[in-house]
Amino acid sequence: MTDRCPVPVAAGEVGLKILKGLARERSLLTAMSLMHQHVGDLFQITLPRFQPVVAASPALNREIMVTSRDKFDWRNQSDPVSQLLRRGLLVQDGESHACLRELMEPMLQRKQVTAHIGAMTHYTDQALSAWPAQGTVDMLVEMRRAALLILVGTLFSTDFQPDMASLWRPILRTLNYISPGLWILWPNMPRLGYASAIQEMDSYLHRVIQEHHAGKYPKDDFVGHLIHQGGLDDELIRDQLLTMLIAGHDTSTALLSWALYLLGQHPQAMARAKAEVDLVLGDSTPEQHHLDQLQFLDWVIKETLRLYPPIHVGNRMAKEDMQLGGHEIRGGTRVMCSIYLSHRHPDHWQDPDKFIPERFDRAVRHNRPPFTYIPFGGGPRNCIGASFAQIEAKVVLARILQQFELSPAPDQSAHSHMGATLEPRPGVMMHVRRR
Ligand code: HEM
Repeated sequence: MTDRCPVPVAAGEVGLKILKGLARERSLLTAMSLMHQHVGDLFQITLPRFQPVVAASPALNREIMVTSRDKFDWRNQSDPVSQLLRRGLLVQDGESHACLRELMEPMLQRKQVTAHIGAMTHYTDQALSAWPAQGTVDMLVEMRRAALLILVGTLFSTDFQPDMASLWRPILRTLNYISPGLWILWPNMPRLGYASAIQEMDSYLHRVIQEHHAGKYPKDDFVGHLIHQGGLDDELIRDQLLTMLIAGHDTSTALLSWALYLLGQHPQAMARAKAEVDLVLGDSTPEQHHLDQLQFLDWVIKETLRLYPPIHVGNRMAKEDMQLGGHEIRGGTRVMCSIYLSHRHPDHWQDPDKFIPERFDRAVRHNRPPFTYIPFGGGPRNCIGASFAQIEAKVVLARILQQFELSPAPDQSAHSHMGATLEPRPGVMMHVRRR
């Protein structure tokens, strides 16, 4: 292929400015924002050994996720996420992806998920019951507890509380295994110190599968569906359960902790959300008709996902030499659809860095093109858990606001950390007082 129209790169003074930004803030997100600003919607990072093409516009997102999707693979054999999830839905392509997706999708449709609202409330209350009547808690930790209880409690029909303490560290190690790190530059570098954590996760999941085989849980839950409708073998079920456990709880942890962080930083929004919850719910436990009325909370969730999309890039591998946005891309190139940059694109968002939940008010006309806002991706590989995540977020936030007054701990400030998801680090310390 001749490079007739190569993807633009940062050169000369612009390149220097970006390197300085990278050195100053030590953040790849800052460097990518600077490249977007100075180079454009499509650019190539040119670090030694790491040269992905980054796309950040509605038209390019659409091309990657829909119109040219067959020219990309998701799976990259050397990525730790493929090695961890083996044949899990997230890391499959082609026919095998389509079959797994068809099998699992019905279990995560909106009407199936609304049946879990009662269980989501129960597990949220279980997590909140450990909070002090008055004191300081780290929402990054607390929201992980809630998200784990909910995911395992609903999809696997299993109470995770008895296993929480022993699996907490293995879960964090497993997340660390798939987080960006030096392996990106040296794909074949040995990754020591993870095997036992992954082994512990595997033993837990196989126990859940065996207990389902033994008839201990309903046949029609998610695990039962994979066994009885799908006829999958235990290893393939393990891959799907680990995929759901990882993709389904770490993202919600990030969303919920960022939402509480942002509410803490914006007392007026906090007061409005609380007033809405009091008006709609009073002392009742949430049901679907309540959730439908929590409109401001819905905007808060959407705005949080805009500013801090837990999955901030969609990763793909170009299968062959191809064109993207009229530029030449070589086969084997990593292509990253930047959800983060798309969500802060100055052409499509007013005051893109500000927290303004009201921007999602449908009564206000916006001419945003499709694929401007893609927290759950788009096309046939969009998030299979999108309904689950949005219902869960509303239940958890509503339940917290019903039961607690919240304010940020003094000097609370969090920055985005690129882990397995985009997390608030070092955490979200908040003062809580039971109402
Ligand atoms: C706030 C919460 C969540 C966010 C922001 C989120 C975001 C995303 C995004 C952006 C993708 C597409 C990635 C790509 O195109 O490469 C995705 C895929 C996926 N998500 Fe989620 N997710 C969330 C919650 C969940 C939950 C609760 C589950 C499971 C119950 C889940 C399971 C998955 C799976 C299995 C895939 C792969 C789908 C496929 O390849 O067909 N996610 N998610």
